[in-house]
Amino acid sequence: MSLVSSRSGILVAGSANLDFVVRAAHVPAPGETVLGRDFATFPGGKGANQAVACARAGGAATRMLLALGDDPYAQQLEASLRGAGVELLIVRMPGIATGTAFICLADDAENAITVAPGANNTLRATHLPSLANVSHLLLQLETPIDTVTAYAIAAHTVGVKVVLNGAPARELPIALLDALDVLIVNEGELATITGIHGNIAEALTHLSVPCVIVTLGARGACARMRGKFHLQAAYRVDPVDTTGAGDTFCGAFTAALGAGLDLPTALARASAAGALATTRLGAQTGVPEHVEVETFMRSHATTVNNAAALRELAAYCGLPEHN
Ligand code: RIB
Repeated sequence: MSLVSSRSGILVAGSANLDFVVRAAHVPAPGETVLGRDFATFPGGKGANQAVACARAGGAATRMLLALGDDPYAQQLEASLRGAGVELLIVRMPGIATGTAFICLADDAENAITVAPGANNTLRATHLPSLANVSHLLLQLETPIDTVTAYAIAAHTVGVKVVLNGAPARELPIALLDALDVLIVNEGELATITGIHGNIAEALTHLSVPCVIVTLGARGACARMRGKFHLQAAYRVDPVDTTGAGDTFCGAFTAALGAGLDLPTALARASAAGALATTRLGAQTGVPEHVEVETFMRSHATTVNNAAALRELAAYCGLPEHN
């Protein structure tokens, strides 16, 4: 199985949300009211964040298929995507609100997010454009599951490599799983999809998707491709906002595949981009440029995948030893 395609160009199909962000000491527990501090809006949405990350990673041209309302929120989102160099294929839905997300950003850089999908829910199978000159299709789960499945099958049928970020967490239809080349999930999403909790290596062996990657936040990432495990330890940073870090990983990883890079190199680039994203506020505003990622990787080259970090990561994933 190869993750490389003879075509070029990446198509991201998915959501765009305007993020309403309040900083607070901690994320409120159910029934709790927390007095927050400053408030700001940022362009977000898993699909749009990933498109920005893909474009900023350089390499192949990035296009995005998205549904937006006809309101000022949509203008902010379009400006951010275009500013990053993403070509837009917009399904315009007058009278339907553009997607929004309500985020409590805690002082430990973690967050709690509620999404009001709005126009994102109107994306349909019929909206998929021609896939000529598309090498990789990048999908997430903030648009209707039937649409995501139809896009994945259509792309798979014509030989486009299909990458799915299985977020937000939900069980996945077999037809969707069968159409994937790459699945990227976090630990919770992996458990939801496989029904296996607690042992990452075991959960990974239950999936027949050719390449599955589990992102593990400050621990790093674990991938399984063609039955072989690959580990990538985390780059150490001081995070201020983890919003969009997973999206940055997905976009940078897909861009690396589009550029023909191998799995370990793509994993390293995506991890570095994701780590850098946590050092800045906002989802799309936090996505680093390719040149910053390269400089950052060079300065961490001798330390990131040291033996102790890889041993610890292997143990966490339930792998007997790092192979
Ligand atoms: O993954 C982060 C994103 O999730 C935010 O930008 C928010 O819009 C939600 O989609």
